[in-house]
Amino acid sequence: MNFIELAKKRYSVRSYSSRKVEKEILNKILEAGNIAPTAKNQQPQRIYVVEDTAMLAKLDTLTPCRYNAPTVLIFTYDTDDDWKNPNEAGIHSGIEDVSIVATHIMLQAAELGLGTTWCNMFGNTALEEAFDLPANEKSVLFMDLGYAAEDAEPSPGHTEKKPLADTVRYLK
Ligand SMILES: Cc1cc2nc3c(=O)[nH]c(=O)nc-3n(C[C@H](O)[C@H](O)[C@H](O)COP(=O)(O)O)c2cc1C
Repeated sequence: MNFIELAKKRYSVRSYSSRKVEKEILNKILEAGNIAPTAKNQQPQRIYVVEDTAMLAKLDTLTPCRYNAPTVLIFTYDTDDDWKNPNEAGIHSGIEDVSIVATHIMLQAAELGLGTTWCNMFGNTALEEAFDLPANEKSVLFMDLGYAAEDAEPSPGHTEKKPLADTVRYLK
């Protein structure tokens, strides 16, 4: 499967089977995230693996978007460890870094036959408090991870993309 085939195969899975994610598969997926580029290679991403039933139930009180996934990855960045732009105050790379890491993970999972859902439908502060995350970390997203249930299918809008003319501009 080449890259375009893989990217087209991936879709947001919103119904997961109860099959657990095997440890070695999870490690492969996490390793794919670990080789992602980050600003100045500072690697501020932090990933929390949630598989414990009570922890998953806690997440369910904060979001409707777990869709029964047996594993959830919570992505944060360390605010002391992300790149700060010396050219403009307040601009820093944490969200960008985490997004690239999470994208690697999402696509590696798809290649291995697993489904994912990138989720930001939660209160960031509420999640950070509920999981007692360090004060110097900001949450960006959580990602559902698991095997798609038999009834899982892409949402109807999955292939509806704006034409490049709407999203790409050539500066002259
Ligand atoms: C930044 C971001 C946030 C998202 N948040 C959610 C979410 O909270 N819940 C959800 O079900 N899907 C979420 N999605 C999935 C998108 O709705 C989905 O990627 C988009 O509709 C395209 O569909 P596809 O992933 O099946 O191609 C999110 C995706 C991105 C990139």
